[in-house]
Amino acid sequence: MLSEYDMKIFQIKRSVRMNCKLVFSLAVVLLVGSSASWAADDGGALYKAKCAGCHGAKGEGKPAMKAPALKGTQLEVNQVVEHITKGESASKAPHNRGIAGLNDGQAKAIAEYVKTLK
Ligand code: HEC
Repeated sequence: MLSEYDMKIFQIKRSVRMNCKLVFSLAVVLLVGSSASWAADDGGALYKAKCAGCHGAKGEGKPAMKAPALKGTQLEVNQVVEHITKGESASKAPHNRGIAGLNDGQAKAIAEYVKTLK
């Protein structure tokens, strides 16, 4: 027979274990949730934040910024990605180098969004 003391210890241990499980599953949910939102970079939102200031909200270009229209661009997605992640020394700023703070996934999401502009 278990003594009352043993029962108490048993109950405490069990509730600690259940709490650990709860914390662990919560952490998993949070991790999975956040990596999912990373996977689906929002090209439209990134474009607005990083490109629209010069190229216009609809990719119409801004003469005042000397930024050409991007809608209907002949460039392929991977060329746009190159243009914004690496840049070319022959291009004018800001494209004489890569745009800061863009990872590959974000650059691709932006490039794909640019291709949807008509
Ligand atoms: C500070 C203003 C500015 C910002 C911000 C900017 N651009 Fe540009 N962009 C330019 C200018 C100016 C040019 C033309 C000069 C060049 O690239 O030779 C250009 C050219 C381009 C071209 C080449 C177009 C062509 O037909 O040759 C692409 C593609 C492009 N930008 C995409 C982007 C994207 C995508 C972003 C956001 C990540 C972005 N740009 C942010 C100013 C900007």
